[in-house]
Amino acid sequence: MDKTPPVITVDGPGGSGKGTLSRLLAQKLGWHLLESGALYRLLALSAKKHAVALDDIAALTSLAETLDVHFLQDTAAERTRFILEGIDVSDEVMHEACGESASQLSVYLSVRQALLERQRSFRTLPGLVAEGRDMGTVVFTDALVKIFLFASIEERAQRRYNQLKAQGIHVNLASLHAEVAARDARDSTRMVSPLKPAPDAHLLDTTGMDIATVLVRMMELVKQRVYAPSCAV
Ligand code: DC
Repeated sequence: MDKTPPVITVDGPGGSGKGTLSRLLAQKLGWHLLESGALYRLLALSAKKHAVALDDIAALTSLAETLDVHFLQDTAAERTRFILEGIDVSDEVMHEACGESASQLSVYLSVRQALLERQRSFRTLPGLVAEGRDMGTVVFTDALVKIFLFASIEERAQRRYNQLKAQGIHVNLASLHAEVAARDARDSTRMVSPLKPAPDAHLLDTTGMDIATVLVRMMELVKQRVYAPSCAV
């Protein structure tokens, strides 16, 4: 019997709901969660800390190879705590500026390759829900179920705005909209592992849908594969 832990990939642009929905899906299944964007964000923070420029490919790659990070599941608070070089940077890592820097350094092939095995090491039993930009196209091409979430840019900017506001971070909606558009453009047009659905991904437009409805839809897709007799886990 194949004991390779099953993977469900959830890719999509920022604000598509993939973070919240992947967490809920992982909870429902009792599986592990990989928030791959956090790795790029942590690398960006590490670069800032060590005064490495965001276009210094060699230095970024070497930082990525030795990145000292830990992901701790805070189940009570329903969030992951991100530890960089022994320091809890969970709040800082979520700032828009950090996401922007992460997007900038994520265009380099050697940086991405340096983070590849680290991402794959999250694949442990009973299974993994992996969210990001290239989970289904590059990191876990053999995933059992691939989901690609998207939504209109207006709605994604508004969701991000609400999310940051809830965390006490105040930003201007119009400039956030522009930042989301610029990040979309960079992430989807880069040469290496651009944001795009895998050919075998299920596309879900979450515009105007609430979290609970999207989760039901995702569970339907998962049940068709994960609980099918031939791939029971
Ligand atoms: O999902 P996020 O906002 O935390 O991701 C931050 C940036 O990291 C995103 O703009 C591009 C990059 N990223 C990536 O290139 N590949 C991934 N699998 C996840 C994130």
